Amino acid sequence: MSALTIDKIRKNYGEVETLKGIDIALDSGEFLVLLGSSGCGKSTLLNIIAGLAEPTSGDVRIGDRSVVGVHPKDRDIAMVFQSYALYPNLTVARNIGFGLEMRKVPAAERDKAVLDAARLLQIENLLDRKPSQLSGGQRQRVAIGRALVRHPKVFLFDEPLSNLDAKLRMEMRTELKRLHQMMKTTVVYVTHDQIEAMTLATRIAVMRNGRIEQLDTPEAIYNRPATLYVATFVGAPPMNMLNAKRSADGLTIDGAVITLPLPRAQRPSRSASPSLSACDPKP
Ligand SMILES: Nc1ncnc2c1ncn2[C@@H]1O[C@H](COP(=O)(O)OP(=O)(O)OP(=O)(O)O)[C@@H](O)[C@H]1O
Ligand SMILES: [Mg+2]
Repeated sequence: MSALTIDKIRKNYGEVETLKGIDIALDSGEFLVLLGSSGCGKSTLLNIIAGLAEPTSGDVRIGDRSVVGVHPKDRDIAMVFQSYALYPNLTVARNIGFGLEMRKVPAAERDKAVLDAARLLQIENLLDRKPSQLSGGQRQRVAIGRALVRHPKVFLFDEPLSNLDAKLRMEMRTELKRLHQMMKTTVVYVTHDQIEAMTLATRIAVMRNGRIEQLDTPEAIYNRPATLYVATFVGAPPMNMLNAKRSADGLTIDGAVITLPLPRAQRPSRSASPSLSACDPKP
């Protein structure tokens, strides 16, 4: 059984099809990154998993339970947003423990959960401060702490590091990786930053116009892109693209023949000469 199943999800806003049939099955402990350019539907998909938006059709299952129509608070998920959404008048400790307070968890148990999360995030010395007395990175840690204390089945992150400067982003990336390795909770993480995707993910879904172009390990996405779009989207600087024709001698580009050391299995027979793109790894 998968920890999270996204089954033929479609989402229309009026006439506009924002998600055009998304299928993903995640094992427990996976770190899935939804990667794609602005407007491709990443947040819409995350919001559907969270219950902040309902799909037009399709199913979302957490474990073996369908959660379509289930209130966000009853889905066993916790979400961290780009904006930290902290309560300005509450201390760090109360911000982290607020969800537990609302659920009437006894104070002693709540204090322990808050302290455990704060230790994990290395902010236990900040528990009495207000959000205005924190840096951006520290505020984001508090927001993550608030998600951690709930011990959810699935963590959802929507571009949590995009408000931070480059150095802090790098630090928090390492921090998130460490946390995931320790807690082994299933994560879905939205970003348009390919470095974040490559370093954090166990699998990446590259999205484009409401569809998944490729769902694979970071290594496969990088070295064996399934489509031209993935090949040009991932990699800095991006891959060069050349129109080429493959022949028995190698590649013909603009009339020039370039001999390549193609693996034996990929060498075409003398009779065949299919046309393909130079970057296509699987003719
Ligand atoms: N409530 C809404 N009503 C109408 N259209 C919407 C609504 N929410 C999102 N959309 C449209 O759906 C598409 C996908 O939006 P979404 O927010 O999922 O993109 P995204 O991939 O998260 O982009 P970004 O990287 O900019 O955050 C966009 O074209 C957007 O305008
Ligand atoms: Mg978004």
